[in-house]
Amino acid sequence: MADTVLITGGCGFIGTNFVRRMLERYDYNIINLDKLTYAGNLENLADCGNNDRYTFVRGDVASVDDLEKVFAKPIDIIVNFAAESHVDRSIIDPDSFIRTNINGTFNLLEMARRKNTRRFIQISTDEVYGSLGSTGAFHEDTPLSPNSPYSASKTSADLLATAYFKTFGMPVIITRCSNNYGPYQFPEKLIPLIITNALADKELPVYGDGLNVRDWIHVKDHCAAIDLVMHKGETGNIYNIGASNEKANIEIVKLVLAILGKPESLIRYVTDRPGHDRRYAIDSGKITGQLGYKPSVDFAEGMRETVEWYVDNREWWERIKTGAYLEYYEKMYGSR
Ligand code: NAD
Ligand code: TYD
Repeated sequence: MADTVLITGGCGFIGTNFVRRMLERYDYNIINLDKLTYAGNLENLADCGNNDRYTFVRGDVASVDDLEKVFAKPIDIIVNFAAESHVDRSIIDPDSFIRTNINGTFNLLEMARRKNTRRFIQISTDEVYGSLGSTGAFHEDTPLSPNSPYSASKTSADLLATAYFKTFGMPVIITRCSNNYGPYQFPEKLIPLIITNALADKELPVYGDGLNVRDWIHVKDHCAAIDLVMHKGETGNIYNIGASNEKANIEIVKLVLAILGKPESLIRYVTDRPGHDRRYAIDSGKITGQLGYKPSVDFAEGMRETVEWYVDNREWWERIKTGAYLEYYEKMYGSR
């Protein structure tokens, strides 16, 4: 019988892209466990509803009761995407980050230990390493030095996952990826926020001097790398994932404006984010050398396609950018 893969947070940005990849390429039975927070959107996978290898379960990784129900059936592999994922929200209201990212990961690890799950992939982030100066890159053994409540909660989850490998011999693997872009990203993150604001001729808020650097990877390449780790990765290992596209934020904003043919007068420099990490850059040498990973999406082409996706899927983000999102936007940018 085909293996059952539990994907948590499958209705979010990266989870959506990963569920699609798994259904398209393998004969796994997929269970998508998602709480459907503001960031989870059932509509993203509406067309998978008819696939008899796909099951959606609304539930919370921080609830043991919810997990007991899911684990009533055998689960072979867990890929844990579920998280509160936005740094700015973690600064305004960190509670849910602790609950989901730390307690949720702990509950999943405990459940996996009790049920002898065969593989546990913890989806982490390069933000656990903190901030870089103007040179160098994050390696898997770079000391952990998180600066935001978000990255501190993800670091705690990584440490728990490592402890479960070391103490209980659990088959855990951690991936740490750089900033993703691509279709289905919630328009609170830099790239979709800039695209959707520019399409509506709204101001584009750039934090500080706009020279903070992020290392961008297309979500397709991130999902391909997780797929490799899931099938070929070595238990107890950590794999960095990136695509060597270091860009200052202002370069990204200007690129989006150029693709859309919108004026740079929309750019507005605003008060910096507290504790704002200056630069991220990832060394993917280990996954490249050991597992044969190679990113396939050219950055300029990937950005053009992403902008097009938001142009073509206006309904998707217009529905999101009403109601609760408006309240958030006012709180975050109103007095900045
Ligand atoms: P996202 O915010 O778009 O999606 C998160 C999903 O998790 C949503 O569907 C949400 O409903 C669900 N969720 C939240 N709390 C839950 C809970 N308690 N129980 C069950 N489901 C819950 O996030 P994303 O950008 O897709 O990120 C996915 C994972 O990848 C996260 O773990 C994040 O830390 C990691 N990551 C993200 C990036 C990035 O650039 N976006 C980079 C590296 C790593
Ligand atoms: P973000 O997409 O929130 O990802 P992260 O903070 O996890 O890297 O932000 C990417 C970069 O863009 C970061 O340096 C903060 C900056 N930024 C802005 O300048 N303006 C914005 O409105 C947002 C959301 C982010």
